[in-house]
Amino acid sequence: MRKDITIEDFINGIPKAELHVHIEGTFEPELMFKIAIRNNSRIKYKSVEEIREAYKFNNLQDFLDIYYEGAGILTEEEDFYDLTMAYLEKAVSQKVLHSEIFFDPQTHTGRGIKFSTVINGIHKALAEAEEKFGMSTGLIMCFLRDLDESAAMKTLEEGLAYRKRIIAVGLDSAETGNPPSKFQDVFTRAREAGFLTVAHGGEEGPAKYVREALELLKVSRIDHGNHCLDDDKLTEELVCRKIPLTVCPLSNLRLKVIDCMEDHPLRRMMKRGLLVTLNSDDPAYFGGYINENYLAITKALNLTPDDIYKLAKNSFEASFLEESVKDKMLARVREYKKMYE
Ligand code: ADE
Ligand code: ZN
Repeated sequence: MRKDITIEDFINGIPKAELHVHIEGTFEPELMFKIAIRNNSRIKYKSVEEIREAYKFNNLQDFLDIYYEGAGILTEEEDFYDLTMAYLEKAVSQKVLHSEIFFDPQTHTGRGIKFSTVINGIHKALAEAEEKFGMSTGLIMCFLRDLDESAAMKTLEEGLAYRKRIIAVGLDSAETGNPPSKFQDVFTRAREAGFLTVAHGGEEGPAKYVREALELLKVSRIDHGNHCLDDDKLTEELVCRKIPLTVCPLSNLRLKVIDCMEDHPLRRMMKRGLLVTLNSDDPAYFGGYINENYLAITKALNLTPDDIYKLAKNSFEASFLEESVKDKMLARVREYKKMYE
């Protein structure tokens, strides 16, 4: 790599895709305050600083309690639009050419917000970003795994009316004690309706849950997947079938999935031949968007420009883009690398 370029510059400028980001997890305290005031809603914190101060988690459940409380401020279509647009502006400034974004309809319908309010607000921002920034996007509807399958099925039925706006369904929220097997019927129904499928797995839960997600939910990608490395046969299968893992380093650190960044399994995953990608998960809560994730893991594991190049290429290869579009985006990554040689 050219000597006048720092690794940080290289990371910031490389074209990349983001495949694991929860739109509700991009809710910055400043915007939370603004929307709470606009809607005359009650907010338990007195200042932006007080909100940030509360963001100390010991595990996934601690985080989810605060995340659902924050998401509870979102009420109007305009709120979902503002939330999504703020993320897209940030993503485009970090050279994200394509983003596949999760949303959790049940977090909102469960408190009386209409499904249409949520999806129309998000979709308006996505359509505008495609037009204004030339960015491409996809929307993934997640089911909350700590609720029962009938609630997920009801959500799927509502989502069917918006089939053209949603590329895939996913599974998130509290993993431990909520195995993929609980959602086999709703995922079968989703696949029959033409949705692709993904699932969070092996974040706090065991490798067994990753296997269930593959075999029972027939997912095309695993979100996180850290614990798949505990099962050699499973890892081999993920490698052979090129099933991508959407890894989220800062999330893993903040939720104590790892003790320190230096312990992160990313390098082991790459060495094993897994198709790994880097992502931000819930950037407003975990201290960084996608580039901060690339930088933190690069510093901790001494990743090289070649490793970063590989991860950026993986992000497009693992995406749900059409092959011809993927090829164009991959060509942009190759051109970028050449500029710095
Ligand atoms: N919802 C938002 N972020 C999540 C995470 N990291 N794991 C599971 N569910 C989530
Ligand atoms: Zn996630």
